[in-house]
Amino acid sequence: MSSTNGKHETNDQLFSPEFNQNPYPAFSKLRQEDPIHQTLLPNGNFSWIVTRYDDAVTVLKDPRFIKDYTYFLGKEQEEEQSETSIFVKNMLFSDPPDHRRLRGLVQKAFTPKMIEGLRGRIEEITNELLDKVEPNGKMNLIDAFAFPLPIIVICEMLGVPSQDRDKFRTWSNTLVEASNDPEEAAQLQVHMEEFVMYLRQLIAIRRQDPKDDMISKLIQSEEEGDSLSEQELYGVISLLIIAGHETTVNLITNGVFGLLENPEQKQQLINDPSIIESALEEFLRYNGPVEFSTDRWAAEAIELRGKTIAKGDHVIVALDSANRDPEQFDDPDVFDITRGKSKHLAFGKGIHFCLGAPLARLEAEVAVTTLLRRMPDLQLNTTPEKLEWRPGMLMRGLKELPVAF
Ligand code: HEM
Repeated sequence: MSSTNGKHETNDQLFSPEFNQNPYPAFSKLRQEDPIHQTLLPNGNFSWIVTRYDDAVTVLKDPRFIKDYTYFLGKEQEEEQSETSIFVKNMLFSDPPDHRRLRGLVQKAFTPKMIEGLRGRIEEITNELLDKVEPNGKMNLIDAFAFPLPIIVICEMLGVPSQDRDKFRTWSNTLVEASNDPEEAAQLQVHMEEFVMYLRQLIAIRRQDPKDDMISKLIQSEEEGDSLSEQELYGVISLLIIAGHETTVNLITNGVFGLLENPEQKQQLINDPSIIESALEEFLRYNGPVEFSTDRWAAEAIELRGKTIAKGDHVIVALDSANRDPEQFDDPDVFDITRGKSKHLAFGKGIHFCLGAPLARLEAEVAVTTLLRRMPDLQLNTTPEKLEWRPGMLMRGLKELPVAF
């Protein structure tokens, strides 16, 4: 291992271009040979990568693996850090009791019942997007369909003008993709500042002129006193925007790609749309949009499968590896939309289980069933070898998916 210009060279297969294209052989090897694997991340920090299903569940549920790194910092360091970290004062990077309070503020809007109320609007947006591309006979499924749908929905829920969505795409892409690459740090800084400035303006407008949207409700909680600080207000809004941008797009795209690679299953779903629920769970298991969990740290020394994880050590769960563990799933590398209920970890587990899961499921259900109903001849409009997966450790998603219909 060596370090040049702040970028750390590591010979770990987890950071090779081949891994990016197909991580599953490397995951399989790690599950068998080194399931609790210590590695040097490209950002120069050591981390433990957990690849087996049962260990993944243990880590995600054990409260000794904490999310808030400031737990390890002195008061002064904590203040320094909090000035710069507008995006981290949110539920995903908090532990109880803060986590409960922050999640509680928005939880009501994401219950399955509330989300089901959005079905009509999601259908409308889906059909409008398909109307636009239908005459062309082809599209890049991501740009024309899988990306705009969840963005329009989350922007409407929050009260963010959806015509600004190209800006969000740039900002959230850099935040997610550059997370482990110090060479992109300068660009990341610029984009973060633009994002913060945008949010500041938006919050100022909504303070003056509240609407019936989630941002106005959150501002009200902040103004009422002790339930939400200003920093947390930014944290929650930016988390929802980013989560809404980077995840469901990959669920729809990875799922459709799975169907195009297995045309007999595509036909089966067209013939019997009632199997969509089972199909969605298989999309999530087979190529889950969130490849690795977010960061966790050991609050104390913890023994895991014979390894000692020291206090303060960084730990990440390879969710897409756990979802291909043969100890948990029969024939895990086989794509099978009729598996039915599945205990995959694509939405995580424990107290940080994805808040947006009902929304993501509903959006993907409407998107995929409508797409197949309207364009049953959908097929890949390129050779599979030309398809590339996006860089970055956190997400698993294609760069483009050209289709014809
Ligand atoms: C298919 C789409 C999605 C997938 C696969 C996904 C996956 C995940 C995962 C794995 C976590 C836990 C991360 C960890 O424990 O380290 C998580 C948390 C979270 N997700 Fe999602 N997500 C999706 C869509 C969404 C959407 C659409 C939203 C909201 C607009 C959302 C909001 C959140 C929030 C707020 C958290 C943090 C929950 C907490 O800390 O209590 N997600 N998601």
